Amino acid sequence: MKKEEILYKYEKRKDNVLYILHEFQDLNPYNYVTDDDMQLIADYIGIPYSKVYGTASFYSMISEKPRGKHIIRLCDSPPCHLMGSIDILDVIKEELKIEVGETTPDMIFTLEKTACLGVCGVAPVMMIDDEVYGNLTPKKVRKILTEYKEGTK
Ligand code: FES
Repeated sequence: MKKEEILYKYEKRKDNVLYILHEFQDLNPYNYVTDDDMQLIADYIGIPYSKVYGTASFYSMISEKPRGKHIIRLCDSPPCHLMGSIDILDVIKEELKIEVGETTPDMIFTLEKTACLGVCGVAPVMMIDDEVYGNLTPKKVRKILTEYKEGTK
């Protein structure tokens, strides 16, 4: 879908900015919104660029920097901590050789932390793109990451 088509789906209202940002981001192969995207949205809605940028930078789900093809979001809330998310984080960092907030040089993975994903019953939990993975163990995480690296996921 073209950017213009996305815009025309929405009424020119400020409360639609976040939805449009999400759709623009999904369209971008590097999972982010560009300055031009934000300007386009601002012009369409009829608000200053700074308002669109403010919305984009406020929400952690929206990025203004290029990110990997796959976004890994590891839950960083207490129930997941109690169930060992720190160990899981260490495994991911070791496997991908990146820190939280970084992207692998091949632009395949970005690692982020997130607040509770609402599935604490299967803690520790991570999301990769729209997929939720629970009851994580170091072994299970290595297997999942290998599947993504090999492109079988
Ligand atoms: S605390 Fe991790 S999913 Fe709720």
